[in-house]
Amino acid sequence: MKISPSLLAADFANLAADVARVEAAGADFLHLDVMDGHFVPNISFGAPVIGALRPHSKLLFDVHLMIECPERYIADFIKAGADSITIHVESTEHPDAILKAIKEAGLRAAVSVSPKTPIETIFPLLPLCDMVLVMTVEPGFGGQKLIPATLDKVRGLRAEIEKKGLSVDIEADGGINDTTIADVLKAGVNVIVAGSSIFGAADPASAIADMRALEQ
Ligand code: DX5
Ligand code: ZN
Repeated sequence: MKISPSLLAADFANLAADVARVEAAGADFLHLDVMDGHFVPNISFGAPVIGALRPHSKLLFDVHLMIECPERYIADFIKAGADSITIHVESTEHPDAILKAIKEAGLRAAVSVSPKTPIETIFPLLPLCDMVLVMTVEPGFGGQKLIPATLDKVRGLRAEIEKKGLSVDIEADGGINDTTIADVLKAGVNVIVAGSSIFGAADPASAIADMRALEQ
């Protein structure tokens, strides 16, 4: 599994130092939650913050766009140094064109589904995706409780990926900690986002080690 700590739970007054801490702790990716106050009822940070962090980290920058009209800003996030860009299927009428543009720029392309969106909605997009992000909480805020029914969607998605013989990662995001991670992995997830349970931990290295120990 890959572990992608979410910057949303970092100390915003000390971002570079906090990122260095999770990098040294054994993180694989850095999850960057971009929120616009429209697609979700919260505002976080945008491309300038990501660009400022880029020279400070070698982690794969896993950018999760929770914004309306993502097509308007893709070029900005590519320029800022994103390695992977995730758009929400609910945020645009043309997810296919945006995913193609991300891939043509040489990045990893991913699509996300919010808890109430049926997973079948994204099945036609699978050949264009390197990863699907299944939201395990309503997008917008860190520190929420995982919604167990979202794991049924992960199982359905894993079965569809196998049926089609594709190689697509499944990422889960929201409410993942050492008590929920075993069920999440068992459902078929191989990329774990964790905000509060890693950046919020007194010792991120042991939080990551505890998670890896639960991987069977
Ligand atoms: C929520 C974000 C998540 C969030 C997860 O909209 O997409 O990435 O930071 O936070 P935790 O792990 O605290 O639930
Ligand atoms: Zn996220």
